[in-house]
Amino acid sequence: MNLCVIASGKGSNLKAIIKATEKKIIDSKVVVVISNNSGSEALQTARQNKIPAIHLSAKLFAAQAEFDSALLNLLKKYKIDLIVLAGYLKKLSPIIVKRYKNKIINIHPALLPDFGGEGMFGLKVHQAVIDSGNKISGVTVHFVDEEYDKGKIILQKKINIKKNEDAVSLEKRLRRIEHKIYPEAIRLIEDGIKGSS
Ligand code: GRF
Repeated sequence: MNLCVIASGKGSNLKAIIKATEKKIIDSKVVVVISNNSGSEALQTARQNKIPAIHLSAKLFAAQAEFDSALLNLLKKYKIDLIVLAGYLKKLSPIIVKRYKNKIINIHPALLPDFGGEGMFGLKVHQAVIDSGNKISGVTVHFVDEEYDKGKIILQKKINIKKNEDAVSLEKRLRRIEHKIYPEAIRLIEDGIKGSS
């Protein structure tokens, strides 16, 4: 599959996916990386790997519809089979979600359907999990639909929360799991596509 990774920040998941393509853990290739943040490490990583790195922000367009059509054009141009959201802090428009139904995935650093939704990102998620008194947390990869963090779950991995663990340590441990589970989820989708062809 041709993957388009969309990221706003650090892009450690992007790095993990690129590595998984190099190690042939997945057959898919990252053919373009898009970010709403021109200074994001994700774009730098893309450039270092000779992958087209495109800064595309709704702020650069007069209307949301113009941004959406620019994004759709790029997805078409690069013949994208799967859109991989990796720390993308914006919501994709319903028009994109509809056009790419079951072809957009996201990773969330908690066990959805809990601890997700608008505004739940970064350390806030882990702090909320710890404050809840839960003894386990985890990572979820899911399809994206019109609502934040609500689409069908593809894969989850759980871990035990340690005694006196803080949000920073939990985030760090879960991030390592994200890097394993995201390529695994892409592999599952690849196999599904193979299986049905
Ligand atoms: C990850 O924790 C991911 O679960 C969430 O955003 C973060 C992105 O991290 N959706 P990175 O930019 O891939 O390092």
